[in-house]
Amino acid sequence: MTAAEIRPLAVGEERVAFELLGRSLHATVTDEVWECRAGSFPAERRFAAFAGGDPVGVAGSFATRLAVPGGKALPAAAVDGVGVRADHTRRGILTALMAAQLEDCARRGDVVAVLHASETTIYGRFGYGVATRSQALRVTRAALRPDAPAGGAVRLLSTAEARDVVPRLYAGPALRPGMIERPDVWWSYARHRLIGEHQVAVHTGPDGDDGFVLYRTEDVRTFDHPNTGAVLTVRDLHAADTRALAGLWRFLLRVDLVSEIRAPGRPLGDPLRTVLTDPRAAAVTGLDDELWLRLVDVPAALAARTYGPGEPVVVEVSDPLLPSNTGRYRIGPEEVRTTAAEPELRMAPDVLAMLYLGDALPSALAAAGRIEVADAAALPRADTLFPVPVPPWCGTPF
Ligand SMILES: CC(C)(COP(=O)(O)OP(=O)(O)OC[C@H]1O[C@@H](n2cnc3c(N)ncnc32)[C@H](O)[C@@H]1OP(=O)(O)O)[C@@H](O)C(=O)NCCC(=O)NCCS
Repeated sequence: MTAAEIRPLAVGEERVAFELLGRSLHATVTDEVWECRAGSFPAERRFAAFAGGDPVGVAGSFATRLAVPGGKALPAAAVDGVGVRADHTRRGILTALMAAQLEDCARRGDVVAVLHASETTIYGRFGYGVATRSQALRVTRAALRPDAPAGGAVRLLSTAEARDVVPRLYAGPALRPGMIERPDVWWSYARHRLIGEHQVAVHTGPDGDDGFVLYRTEDVRTFDHPNTGAVLTVRDLHAADTRALAGLWRFLLRVDLVSEIRAPGRPLGDPLRTVLTDPRAAAVTGLDDELWLRLVDVPAALAARTYGPGEPVVVEVSDPLLPSNTGRYRIGPEEVRTTAAEPELRMAPDVLAMLYLGDALPSALAAAGRIEVADAAALPRADTLFPVPVPPWCGTPF
């Protein structure tokens, strides 16, 4: 148990809390940095731990919406800015901040909370599970197939234009489960950092602008390798369809003096490889957890998504951190309701979160010992209910 005082951050305490966060992440907060970040670091929705009058821990969130299978977008807390001062770690400060934050989310009506984890061993204990994954691609000597969608025109924007156009082009939750809305508080920093530090290209399809890419190039020529050219890194790429995606990649592949394109954080099943003459020209160099999800209101979350066809399953969830979630749920395509029936599958909230957006297969989690199986006949049923045809993906850093 921590001796620090845990309370909401007060207006006026934002900068000291941000400096503490910077220190925990090995970053220095100068006046210039704070000028860029102040708009994205309001006191609202932020909790801090204080010891001796100084902040020694902080955890915040911003309000957004998360797309779930079936097309609904649920009120969500996007957890960000989590850090504990190095001389106060491992005393339960994060645990206390997480508990305060989850209660606050529940009170505000957030159905879910989401985050990106700096380390994978931290958040499972608080009921977060890996709900989406992403892959990193290294693209070299690639060409689009002759039968790849032609795509439309691509134009480069000035920074000022991009700050206006890109936020309007980001379609977010309308596109696929796992995506979130990007509210003003998110754009406030992204306008400086993401847009200000990248080239921005926009694709125009038959109905107007329908995709964009933010990228930067780095000259990697050296004395020994004077002809290597530059590495182009894709930071943010969203396209309404494969046509727009192919159009944007056609443009990227034609940028001169580039020897390699790196595209981290792309969705699983990214269609890029299917439109290349040589799929291996886009090598998968990494596969990682992307969005971590916490179901804050389990009954509301379960009822909000759609399920595959088949007979229902009875799942028992036990949630010591948010006890009102503890219960038995009959989950099926027609309805989800609480039940007194004997549970067929038992799981912790982090495991339910792994199933929720359709990324993980129930039978695989059961085989790994993450789901307790009371009735094995329920597993094939669960395997048809939870999965989704297009892998969920967030694609928004925060
Ligand atoms: C990660 C961090 C916030 C944890 O804060 P903390 O106050 O030390 O966490 P707690 O004391 O509440 O720890 C709770 C549990 O998580 C474990 N834990 C905490 N951080 C961990 C880490 N980085 N790796 C593995 N386990 C960790 C603790 O060992 C403890 O386990 P226990 O209950 O079995 O003893 C802190 O180490 C930190 O600020 N790290 C640098 C910044 C960072 O990574 N922020 C997260 C951004 S997503």
